[in-house]
Amino acid sequence: MHNWVEINLDNLRHNFEFIRKMVHPSAVMPVVKSDAYGHGMVETAKALRDAGAEMFAVSKLGEAVRLREAGIKVPILLLSGVIDGEYEEALNRGIRPVVFTSEHLKKCQETAERYRKNFPIHIKLDTGMGRLGFRIDRINTVLSMVSTCKNVVIEGIMTHFADADSDDLSYTRLQCDLFRRAVQRFQEMNIRPRWVHASNSAATFLFPEARFNLVRPGLALYGPTFFAPQLLPVMSLKARVIQVKDVPPGSPIGYGRTFTTPERMKIATVSVGYSDGYPRALSNKGIVLIRGQRCPLVGRVSMNLITVNVSHLKEVREGDEVVLMGCQSGASIFGDDVADLAGTISYEIYCRIGTNPVKRFLSESSQS
Ligand SMILES: Cc1ncc(COP(=O)(O)O)c(C=O)c1O
Repeated sequence: MHNWVEINLDNLRHNFEFIRKMVHPSAVMPVVKSDAYGHGMVETAKALRDAGAEMFAVSKLGEAVRLREAGIKVPILLLSGVIDGEYEEALNRGIRPVVFTSEHLKKCQETAERYRKNFPIHIKLDTGMGRLGFRIDRINTVLSMVSTCKNVVIEGIMTHFADADSDDLSYTRLQCDLFRRAVQRFQEMNIRPRWVHASNSAATFLFPEARFNLVRPGLALYGPTFFAPQLLPVMSLKARVIQVKDVPPGSPIGYGRTFTTPERMKIATVSVGYSDGYPRALSNKGIVLIRGQRCPLVGRVSMNLITVNVSHLKEVREGDEVVLMGCQSGASIFGDDVADLAGTISYEIYCRIGTNPVKRFLSESSQS
């Protein structure tokens, strides 16, 4: 195998359990959209269900249907709602749409009436993210619409924070206060949703007042990050050294000759590139682990190969394992490290590496 992704399901379950204990008595709804941030949606959801997850959030209906077809029976929330032609399937499969326009609400009511069923939905309020949701200043209209929809069950009311991972949480506090007042207005109208939720991972860790009775973490399930360093990494990207060479000073390395050896160097060529999910932005910037030592990339990341300076290693051989993200002999490179070097966020790194077709799911507990 030239390169592969490893998903440590034990660490995933550990992170879930950590969050669950931390937020108790609030419940945890794992966010497994976008192939569980690249970690493999079905395997991730099954591992979390076995660890006790009682509901999941995805973005689109197709994802929820895949989970249903894989035998996931618990409630699934569609964060991006449903679009035309999807209402019946959502209703009949017990998939809960997030509703953020009056048009959606009407269609949910019509569909529920047609099938003589109750349609559980979650109402999303925009308290300042400026993305999905009924604007909070339209709360009166929302309340009057909701109270006329007989077959629609308001199972949840939710909002989303714009910058809960910021040093300054004053905007999060403002959003949270607006949301709390809106929830009160619902209660005054005798609408008491089973679930009230606002927190993504950052808010779950940094702003406990906003946990209400349910939190929606995605990122934190998948590994440590600056606000949750105690969590365990789940995804690793690994490859192999396929050639080692001694090169004289003045040798150009890789496309565009962006690196020239300043002295005699030992260069390892490693079998991974941007088509395997490793960002090209790491050209001349990335760090990898070989034999437990940090080794810098030299030259550009190409489609299937990278070149690494291994001059400082006592020994390096063709066939040696290379860790691009993950741990090796006590050293580690986390998603945040890769993201910082590439000038992006770990979410994007996970999703991108997750497109690698070779995934190995590791789990001690399922082997025993
Ligand atoms: C509405 C909503 N809730 C929760 C999450 C999970 O966020 P995070 O991965 O930061 O925990 C997302 C992710 O984008 C989201 O869109």
